[in-house]
Amino acid sequence: MTKYTLLNRRMNSEYRISQRKLAVIVIVTFILFLYALNRNSSCDNDESLSKESQHDVDNNLPIIYAVTPTYYRPVQKAELTRLSHLFRLVPNLFWVIVEDAEETSALVRNLVNRAGLSNRAVLLHAKTPTDFKLTKKDPHWSKPRGVEQRNEALKWIRKKVKHEPGHAIVYFMDDDNSYSVELFEEMSKIQRSRVGVWPVGLVGAMYVEKPIVENGKVVGFNSMWRPERPFPIDMAGFAISTDLLESNPSAMFSYEVQKGYQESEILRHVTTRDKLQPIASNQILVWHTRTEASKLDNETKLVKKGLPQSDNDMTV
Ligand SMILES: *[C@@H]1O[C@H](CO)[C@@H](O)[C@H](O)[C@H]1NC(C)=O
Repeated sequence: MTKYTLLNRRMNSEYRISQRKLAVIVIVTFILFLYALNRNSSCDNDESLSKESQHDVDNNLPIIYAVTPTYYRPVQKAELTRLSHLFRLVPNLFWVIVEDAEETSALVRNLVNRAGLSNRAVLLHAKTPTDFKLTKKDPHWSKPRGVEQRNEALKWIRKKVKHEPGHAIVYFMDDDNSYSVELFEEMSKIQRSRVGVWPVGLVGAMYVEKPIVENGKVVGFNSMWRPERPFPIDMAGFAISTDLLESNPSAMFSYEVQKGYQESEILRHVTTRDKLQPIASNQILVWHTRTEASKLDNETKLVKKGLPQSDNDMTV
């Protein structure tokens, strides 16, 4: 017998599989198929998140550069995670994150990548000079915050828009406030060369601080705290058309102004009260919430006892 006939015979016998064997193979294949299906539908890896966020930006919407100054503290990742998920719902948002640090951090970089936002974000850093840095004893309002970081962002945005002629908007978006997706739909209506203003919830020791609007014009503000300010509004309550930054190169934040005057400081360079564009005047779409600092006394106890920290193998 030649080699070939031997081989043929063996193959024939292998093909003669009993019906029972066949049934077992079919069932096993089916189970494996179901398992694979299930894995695909429940997967929560980075890749699947990233893919979903590649929406095509509607070309009719202006890009909104959202400037977020941030610094390391135990709640940072939680705050930025909330914001990153908002970005996934608003395709025309571009995130300008500025860390108060000597360099950008792996925490922020990983978070942005995991949310699939790496092509809609830039990570910058600018360290607050120590003279201006809040210490644990200082009340949070005693020194201007975010000046260095917001100015760094403005510098970056000015360079960016110089090469991109389309209409765009800048919004100063702190990492602890609460934002509705609808705010950005409304903000997209800001016209070229204008500043949009809208109500902000839970600020200035009131339910809402808001512009007073008559016949589509801002005629005043309802704030109780320092109403004599040129623009008595919170940072979360306005956004600026970027062409105003180009035509007013000196518009920026400053350490030299009184407490509560940062908003007025930038706005006085780019607009006047009568030119403000009221947006979503009868709605609250942003709240000036503040996250409580985490208590970590027992973590300290753990370490004193010589035990490993609870976050040993993960980033909180
Ligand atoms: C910290 O641990 C102690 C026990 O050592 C416990 O009694 C206490 O309630 C814990 N503190 C908090 C805030 O959970």
